[in-house]
Amino acid sequence: MLVLGIESSCDETAASVVKDCRTICSSVISTQIEEHKKYGGVVPEIASRRHCENILGVVRKALDDAAVSLADLDAVAVTCAPGLIGALLVGVSFAKALALSSGKPLVPVHHIAGHIASNYITHPELEPPYLCIVASGGHSHIIEVLSYTKFRIVGRTRDDAAGECFDKCARAMGFPYPGGVHVDNAAQSGDPTAFRLPRPVVAGSEFDFSFSGLKTNVINLIHNSEQKGIVLNKNDLSASIQHTIAEILTEKTISAAQALGYEKIALAGGVSANSGVRSTLSEACRRHGFEFFMPDKSLCGDNGAMIACQGSYNFLAGITADETLNAAATLPIDSI
Ligand code: KG4
Ligand code: ZN
Repeated sequence: MLVLGIESSCDETAASVVKDCRTICSSVISTQIEEHKKYGGVVPEIASRRHCENILGVVRKALDDAAVSLADLDAVAVTCAPGLIGALLVGVSFAKALALSSGKPLVPVHHIAGHIASNYITHPELEPPYLCIVASGGHSHIIEVLSYTKFRIVGRTRDDAAGECFDKCARAMGFPYPGGVHVDNAAQSGDPTAFRLPRPVVAGSEFDFSFSGLKTNVINLIHNSEQKGIVLNKNDLSASIQHTIAEILTEKTISAAQALGYEKIALAGGVSANSGVRSTLSEACRRHGFEFFMPDKSLCGDNGAMIACQGSYNFLAGITADETLNAAATLPIDSI
């Protein structure tokens, strides 16, 4: 079975051909980061325009690299939600046209389900059920993966996502967008205990996150010291931020897995590339006896392979769409 996956929810235009759900035949990613850097974040209008310009070339290259033609495909999968609406619409419209003109089934994919699926590509032995922590620029969710296509959210962020917190703290320290990776790099030579940063207490749900207090605390710390002419050690601050975020994500995930009786824990989303999050969660899983899975670094960020993989499972479960498929900026993961 060959499935083409198309991703355009944010600032990466990506396409990939995946064989039998988990084997990557090709993966093409065209990133717009350099252009959005000038503005300190993604400019939605520019993102849509670049997707529009790039998508045909990216999809054509994905087919060429895999040495397949449209006729060889079993289905065309596309991210239809959540994300920047104008950006999503480019991928959805393109996939619809491709599916209609080739007579191939069209398969809608939820972006977060795609991130979760990146673990299937990295770990051929991984099968549901398990608990997954998805941390990206827009989301921080603890999700029960009940089957390949059934999900239940047990915890979510009440405000900022973990990646957003990394990026905003990074911006306050003067790092370019997207700052998460710069914090990670600086943290390598910093002391994680140098700054005591707040850990949120979220009333109501023990598995929900809140990162806005941490972000505000870091921004205030930087502004106050600037006013006093004190130069903060960026490596120490980065290491402290990374350590705090990693511990928050880890603690909630471990207690959710214990409370719900899971034996396997997976990590996914852009923040799964973070070295501190990877090592803290992996070590905690080892200590508490959980089997731990995380995506290969090349699959942590947005890519077409994760969409093709999840699209394959959706297709096998009979989840397809017709020409009325629309994109949605927000949509719960259990609605596809
Ligand atoms: O999943 P993703 O590529 O896009 C969304 O779906 O949001 O995630 C992007 C997020 C950004 O906030 C980025 O700074 C963060 O993932 N990120 C990192 C690292 N690499 C990417 N955060 C911390 N450390 C990293 N190494
Ligand atoms: Zn993403």
